[in-house]
Amino acid sequence: MSRPLIAANWKMHLGRAEEALGLVRRIRHPLGRIDGVEVVVCPPFTVLPLLAEVLGPSPIALGAQNMHWAERGAHTGEVSPSMLAGLCQYVILGHSERRATGGSTEDDAAINRKLKAAFGVGLIPIVCVGESGEQREAGATDDVVRSQVSLALAGLEPDQARRCVIAYEPVWAIGSGRPATAAEANRIIALSVRGAVAEGFGEEVAQAARVLYGGSVLPDNIAAFTAMPDIDGALVGGASLGPEFVELVLRVSAER
Ligand code: PGA
Repeated sequence: MSRPLIAANWKMHLGRAEEALGLVRRIRHPLGRIDGVEVVVCPPFTVLPLLAEVLGPSPIALGAQNMHWAERGAHTGEVSPSMLAGLCQYVILGHSERRATGGSTEDDAAINRKLKAAFGVGLIPIVCVGESGEQREAGATDDVVRSQVSLALAGLEPDQARRCVIAYEPVWAIGSGRPATAAEANRIIALSVRGAVAEGFGEEVAQAARVLYGGSVLPDNIAAFTAMPDIDGALVGGASLGPEFVELVLRVSAER
C-alpha cells in the first residue's frame, strides 16, 4: 500500500496572512518530524502564494481548493490552472460544497474539464465524490458514486487516472459530526470508487489510484479509516484548522 495522504481542506477559513501563518508556524516542525505520511494543506487562494514562499521545499505540500478549466479569458473572479501551477502541487476539484451551488461550472462535465486542465499544468487533482443523505436513503449510493467517478475521469490517459486522488466524501457526513463507519466507507470505496475506475481503466489502475475518505474525520477516528485496506488517507475539514491536525497525522503514522 502507498504512503497515506492526509489533505487539509481549510475551506473559507484562515485566509488572512497572520492567521494562516500562525497555524503553519505551529504545525510545520511537528509535522516535518512525522514519518511515512504525506501531508497536503489546501488554504484559501489569498494565502497560497504566501504559504508557498514560507514553506519552500518542505515535506508539507500545498493544494488549492478549486480552479477554472480555462487558461485565460472573460471569467471574472476565477483562477486558472497555470496561475496555480507554480504555487502548489494539488487542487481539490468538485467538492460537494461547490457542486451544490456551482451550476454549470461545477457539474460533472465541468469537473472533467478541470481534471484534464489540472494534468495539463502538472497539478494532481483531488476530486471529490459522494452521495447526499437523500440519495443514501433511496439506496442510490453506488449509482451516484460510480457515475461521479466515471464522469470525472472520462477521457483521461490511464497514467493520469492512476495519479488521481479521489476523495469519497458522503455529503451527509461532512461537518456533521456523523462520519461514515470505517467499514462502510471502505465498502463504498472498494465497490463504487475503485469499481468505476476499474471499468474505465482496468483493475491495476483502480488499485493504484489513491482514494481518501472525508467527512467528520477527527484525531480520534482517523486510525480506523486508514487501517482499512482500500482507504489511502483522508480529506479533513474542521479538524485541520488547529494544532489538533498534528495529532491526527500522528495517529496515522503510529498506526502504520
Ligand atoms: P469535515 O469536512 O472534516 O469538516 O467534515 C471535510 C470536507 O468537507 O472536505
